[in-house]
Amino acid sequence: MNKPLRKAVLPVAGLGTRFLPATKATAKEMLPVVDKPLIQYAIEEARAAGIEQFCMVTGRGKTALVEHFDIAFELEATLRQRNRVEALEALKGTQVEPGSMVTVRQQVPLGLGHAIWCARTFIGDDPFAVLLPDDLVLSHTPCLKQLADAYRETGGNVVAVVEVPREHTNRYGILKTGKDDGRLVEVLGLVEKPAPEDAPSNLSIIGRYVLMPEVIGHLAKMERGAGNEVQLTDGMAKLIGHQPFHGLRYEGTRFDCGDKVGYLEAQIAFALARPDLADAVRGFLHKYMK
Ligand code: G1P
Repeated sequence: MNKPLRKAVLPVAGLGTRFLPATKATAKEMLPVVDKPLIQYAIEEARAAGIEQFCMVTGRGKTALVEHFDIAFELEATLRQRNRVEALEALKGTQVEPGSMVTVRQQVPLGLGHAIWCARTFIGDDPFAVLLPDDLVLSHTPCLKQLADAYRETGGNVVAVVEVPREHTNRYGILKTGKDDGRLVEVLGLVEKPAPEDAPSNLSIIGRYVLMPEVIGHLAKMERGAGNEVQLTDGMAKLIGHQPFHGLRYEGTRFDCGDKVGYLEAQIAFALARPDLADAVRGFLHKYMK
């Protein structure tokens, strides 16, 4: 029997330099897509996959992320007084079970692998999910739920993967692939951000993972990889051959909200998926397409 998947780690310590000046005094994970911050999409997706315990790996200037999931007593009291039912309803997704969300601080930006290692006490001996809030997925079944189902099926590590143009392999973790049924693909190797000519495939990892706790022991060695950072990909690569490791071609569309164009595209796609906004948005888009 696989251990149930109940924990998620959300690395949110990044500086957000690509979104300055917007991110000068606020966390990039607080940037909204339509009317909801990126971090809330990630938490809601995790919840939909059965996650009950959350650990945000934060850094300096990220207090708004913690505030966002607290009760805003004055605001809620005022809204109740004014009978603003819809506004109160909009706050529902920000409510978490008391004690279910913790934060740890990544004091120095040594890479994604180091960020995950910072959550080692929270992880303990349990399998855990990782969600990178920059990656937003629009899908019928929440992306992490798809991974959680695949974890139950395969009993090991599962990462969400998608084919990218070969010239983009240097932006992602890339798979060396084994058996492939078109949905689940066996992982034989992992390389972080290889040059197109060195990439073992064009199948890339997106920011959704289900990992076994043994990865922490490998990350603890603090070996530097691509960009002189401690890479999660390198830690995961050490598990291959010892534990099941699969890539899942998820159903859905990923938007890289760490990138300006990706972020703008997400705004449009998510607005068009909203019954209350779709017509109005489609209406004005025509104007700009001329
Ligand atoms: C990170 C990971 C990379 C993964 C990517 C997905 O890279 O290191 O393996 O493909 O997220 O978004 P980053 O975007 O932090 O450079």
